[in-house]
Amino acid sequence: MMYTKMSSQWLLWTFGAFLLALTVDAQLSTTFYSSSCRNLTARVDEIIRGHIRRDRTLAPSLLRLHFHDCFVRGCDASVLLNSPRGAQGEKDAIGNKDSLRGFEIIDDVKTKIEAMCPGVVSCADLLALSARDSMRAFGNITWSVPLGRRDGTVTSASEANSDLPPPFGTFSSLSAIFRRKGLTVKDMVILSGAHTVGTARCASMQTRLYSFSSANPTDPTLDPTFASQLKRQCPQGDNTTLIRNDQTKPTDTWDFNYYSNVLRSKGLFGSDDAMKRNPAARKIVLTQNKPGSPFSAEFAKAMEKMGRIGVLTSRQGQIRRTCTRTN
Ligand code: HEM
Repeated sequence: MMYTKMSSQWLLWTFGAFLLALTVDAQLSTTFYSSSCRNLTARVDEIIRGHIRRDRTLAPSLLRLHFHDCFVRGCDASVLLNSPRGAQGEKDAIGNKDSLRGFEIIDDVKTKIEAMCPGVVSCADLLALSARDSMRAFGNITWSVPLGRRDGTVTSASEANSDLPPPFGTFSSLSAIFRRKGLTVKDMVILSGAHTVGTARCASMQTRLYSFSSANPTDPTLDPTFASQLKRQCPQGDNTTLIRNDQTKPTDTWDFNYYSNVLRSKGLFGSDDAMKRNPAARKIVLTQNKPGSPFSAEFAKAMEKMGRIGVLTSRQGQIRRTCTRTN
């Protein structure tokens, strides 16, 4: 009897210690590199500010690169890996090919940080920092980036094709994809507010404008005047022209205008329109779209959460020497 009680106590203790080890391992911290690479965050910020000064349009692209990294195998820099010989990697996935930008910026950051602290800082952390610092340089938005991610060694196009949300997604299919990543409907509506900045290729608009369904060649949920404007910008068959995600402002700035566009049926994608097709989501849209909007603060919280998806820590993965290939 005594023995059973003691052994069950021991079992409980061991299990508790195991759980604690798991959670401690899984923790990221803003001071992770404070002794191993002292000036890391200031240096990354400086490098990124130089790039954004030269080309401001890279900031939304780096934000999207971080998002597409985190949604496939967690934030492990798998999106940066070149495709393995004879196989298709994340870079070849439908939502990424000819679309993601900013890889060369991360390579530049990595080269400079490796020169300063060799073999210490992961590509996953450098991507998370670069996304934040570029948007901070873009203006009006920042968020906290806890560090300590390690790099993955696997990249797969088929995983990316099933884990990345498609622009024609319905509310229920999109929210299921976000839920699988541990994100709520609110997180999804808030993170989609990133479409207040950046660009899209006309390729992403073709189906919605010209071959939506046999009864409706143009998606009837689009505002008709807006649809005509988009058709002028993106003629049928044009897959390359870049158009602004938010067409309503003269310069690309961070604000809550995305939500106004969604409510007026002027979001570029069906996925944007989907954000108002569910009562709970619509309420969140309405809350963002008013003076004194909580959007930027909510976005900062959601980005920090997104940056923790499926991270590798401790002895998992590796610290890649070059972001495009495994060691
Ligand atoms: C709800 C699901 C989402 C869908 C279906 C979606 C889809 C898309 C598509 C199709 C494009 C245009 C790509 C192209 O034509 O090359 C785009 C651009 C963009 N997306 Fe999303 N997106 C979603 C969520 C997000 C999230 C969560 C973020 C960030 C947190 C984000 C950030 C961006 C940015 C910043 C751009 C512009 C990129 C650039 O200028 O290079 N998107 N998105």
